[in-house]
Amino acid sequence: MDSAEATHPLRRLGAECGGAGVILEARTLSKRFGDVQANAAVDLALRVGEIHAILGENGAGKSVLAKTLYGLYRPDAGAIVVDGQQVVLDSPARARALGIGLLFQDFRLVPALSVLRNVALALPDGGFWLRRARLAARIRATARRYGMTVDPSARVGDLSVGERQHVEIVKLVLSGARIMLLDEPTSLLAPQEIDALRSSLRELRDEGRFAIALITHRLDDVWALADRVTVLRGGVVSARFDDVAATGDGELIDAVVGHDLPALRSCAVRAQRARSVLRADRIDVADDRGRLVIRGLSLTVAAGEMVGVAGISGGGQRELAEAVLGVRPTRAGTLEVLGHDVGAGGARRVLEAGAAGISEDPLETDVVPGLTVTHHMALSRLEVPRRGIGYDWQALERRVARLPEAAELGLPVGDRLVTELSGGTVQRVMVVRALAGDPELLVAAYPTRGLDLATARITQKLLLARAAAGAGVLLMSEDLEELFLLSDRIAVLRAGRIVAAVAPGATTRHAVGAQMLGTA
Ligand SMILES: Nc1ncnc2c1ncn2[C@@H]1O[C@H](COP(=O)(O)OP(=O)(O)OP(=O)(O)O)[C@@H](O)[C@H]1O
Ligand SMILES: [Mg+2]
Repeated sequence: MDSAEATHPLRRLGAECGGAGVILEARTLSKRFGDVQANAAVDLALRVGEIHAILGENGAGKSVLAKTLYGLYRPDAGAIVVDGQQVVLDSPARARALGIGLLFQDFRLVPALSVLRNVALALPDGGFWLRRARLAARIRATARRYGMTVDPSARVGDLSVGERQHVEIVKLVLSGARIMLLDEPTSLLAPQEIDALRSSLRELRDEGRFAIALITHRLDDVWALADRVTVLRGGVVSARFDDVAATGDGELIDAVVGHDLPALRSCAVRAQRARSVLRADRIDVADDRGRLVIRGLSLTVAAGEMVGVAGISGGGQRELAEAVLGVRPTRAGTLEVLGHDVGAGGARRVLEAGAAGISEDPLETDVVPGLTVTHHMALSRLEVPRRGIGYDWQALERRVARLPEAAELGLPVGDRLVTELSGGTVQRVMVVRALAGDPELLVAAYPTRGLDLATARITQKLLLARAAAGAGVLLMSEDLEELFLLSDRIAVLRAGRIVAAVAPGATTRHAVGAQMLGTA
């Protein structure tokens, strides 16, 4: 990783300690993992009544900083000061007792349990001292106070990402957090859900009881919410902005990326071929519990075409993607992928025919603990070269390193364990894996989830290039900005049906957002 000083000067980088309203201070915190210096002499001061945005590229050290302040990692050097007293955070329990709460980048709620049970688990003594009815009333009241609606009896697994986010925040408030560390809370939300979350965060801030740190890749979060900004680069604080109102877009992009973003041709016009690579005709698909989540859906994707599917998470996209990739059989209708009938499933045939996917939740469905980056690459269209009776992993590693998309996306070295990579770096592995071997049909769910600004832009360019080379792309996302930017057509999915099909140039994001949520 390049040094911050070499690539851009530190701006407005005064001493960051003490001062009015500061309730948490990190002083020259350092943390190393093997040869990775994740944090190096990081200073940060969080003030009550303020939202402090923390920006930086994938792997810059944002999550490590948050986890250190939550007692999950012990710093190698430096100090943590809460209310003016130096503290040792040797466990999350100790951090929580001091009023520090963390909303994780990857959700930690238990999907099979109710909202009430999930919140109870976060309270001291598991909340057993509180009667269920009282806790339920407190959950509802807290949610209402900050402009949210939370049903304590709902099963967390049935909630949308936005609703889970609300549960997380209610949980933080009820568990007594005064210092809230939020790791990418807006990265997976629909526009209406983002608006709702932002207004809740503003209410929390304006109450003047909380200090909020907001890790994000979205610059619009900064403009909407942040009072101050700290930028990390290669583990060090590379810039700090104490007056966001006086800061420009270009200044922030420059501080985070170190250069201008590569330009992206908007609304693509491609020579579409007559051949369809995907044809679904009135298909039904059920979820793991046997409920029909896709009902009578018809959709085609032509070679060279990028079709966007707009829908809130949990709306059947996952099951649709799995059906197309032959992992999940359909219950009715016909489904043809690259000339093969895959209604009854057949993942291997679909892969060999030239299809590849980026799944909605790689940490849950794709990441295998204990396996390296190269091992994960083997689970793709790339063949692992044989050596004797075994496999030649080094040959595969060399082959992967030569892939143009590996170089463009900055794939980490092959022998790193995927579970030790930062959130966005895991996503890079997934994108490279899907693009490896030039698929003819790419099913991409939230392809830029968690990627930093520059890497997201490179990924979008690679997807457009695949389509320009004649592949069909089925792009699923809640990020309407991305769908509008890349898609030739957008199909709106709600409750398992396609309720509208629109050209990006002929509608607005808010209109599509309302159709997704059923409020049109
Ligand atoms: N438990 C761990 N073991 C080894 N290395 C780790 C561990 N946790 C983090 N790292 C490394 O520390 C560096 C910083 O990671 P971190 O997760 O803080 O990045 P980040 O800024 O949150 O990135 P992203 O935007 O991708 O979420 C990365 O190089 C990562 O691989
Ligand atoms: Mg992170």
